[in-house]
Amino acid sequence: MMGQDLTPLLRELDELDRQGLRRSCRRVEAVEGGRIQVDGRWLIYLASNNYLGLTQHARVIAAAQEALARYGAGAGSARLIGGTFPPHEELEAELARFKQAEDCLLFSTGYMANIGIITSLVGQGDLVIGDRLNHASLIDACRLSGAAFRVYPHADANRLEEALHQRRNQYRRVLLVTEGVFSMDGDLAPLPAIVEIARRYDAWLLVDEAHSTGVFGPAGRGSLEHFGISTEGILQMGTLSKALGSVGGFLAGPKVVVELLRNKARSFIYTTALPPSCAAAALEALRVVKEEPGRRERLWENVRRWSSGLMQLGCELVSHASPIIPVRTGSNGRTMELAQALLEAGVYAPGIRPPTVPEGSARIRTSLTSLHTEGDLDAALGAFRQVCERVAVSR
Ligand SMILES: Cc1ncc(COP(=O)(O)O)c(C=O)c1O
Repeated sequence: MMGQDLTPLLRELDELDRQGLRRSCRRVEAVEGGRIQVDGRWLIYLASNNYLGLTQHARVIAAAQEALARYGAGAGSARLIGGTFPPHEELEAELARFKQAEDCLLFSTGYMANIGIITSLVGQGDLVIGDRLNHASLIDACRLSGAAFRVYPHADANRLEEALHQRRNQYRRVLLVTEGVFSMDGDLAPLPAIVEIARRYDAWLLVDEAHSTGVFGPAGRGSLEHFGISTEGILQMGTLSKALGSVGGFLAGPKVVVELLRNKARSFIYTTALPPSCAAAALEALRVVKEEPGRRERLWENVRRWSSGLMQLGCELVSHASPIIPVRTGSNGRTMELAQALLEAGVYAPGIRPPTVPEGSARIRTSLTSLHTEGDLDAALGAFRQVCERVAVSR
């Protein structure tokens, strides 16, 4: 960079400004229940994926503290070199049990898990097919893999089958990739149909359970459990960073896949292990998921209360099938104006614009946790009502 002309970069930033796409981080000073403090003001927090409130659970925090004291602040090394600690191994065993899989491998983040899983399983001569609304980590991994990459329209199992019907014979391996619950739309993939298609066309299936782990299914195992689908042979990716309240990613699946990833996934091999304290926190969080089903019940009560309140206000919801409830807002500019007005009215709910979502589908993405009280939700609905009256929102 030294001595080089940086004005083209400034122009890029100006262009983002012009399109209403410039981004910045907002500093959160404190978190308490369903509220956060920003610039000294307490706001109702509708932007967290901490669905069960476990980032703040006393037992989860104590487990992390104990591991910090015992193993130190960081792992100090990659897993294969000397960075495997008891919490890593215990968590992998526990996740494998929870996901009803043969084995499990941890990654430092969910993003890195997706990169490592997909690039290890398919390459040149193979085909990977994904939902058009798949998360960026899945898309990046598909591109990086070197396999032929096709997308099908969102949640459209018929179009997926058409693609396989036309192309299956031209490729050695085929990998189907979908989220269980979509991160920006909050709806579910048609998994029963996708699983059946995968079996019929002899394709592997990777389900990203980032937003469904801990939330969906009678035991919180995820969207496969929600649909009553056997996990046998299915590759279940997940993250520790959402309902499990920590950080890290994982793949639960057949032993041979896990062993291959351990030997081949570059985003596992060439990076320092997850801090043992994060693994210990997630391990305790998993126990809480099992022991405190009331948290999941409260979350779902909040989903019902919040979505029906928004609909009564006349808001157009993208979906209300999960704790992610996005409100359609139209243009990028109007979306950001609305997010700002909500902030002023005491609600932190982010505006989501392209490229995170397709062009023309900007939205306010609200997400709920079990920690939101009825009072929080009613106050947030009051703020939405007030703001909707000022800034026309799809009414
Ligand atoms: C569907 C999906 N997959 C993967 C990830 C990446 O997970 P992580 O935040 O652990 O990197 C996210 C969220 O960030 C996500 O929403």
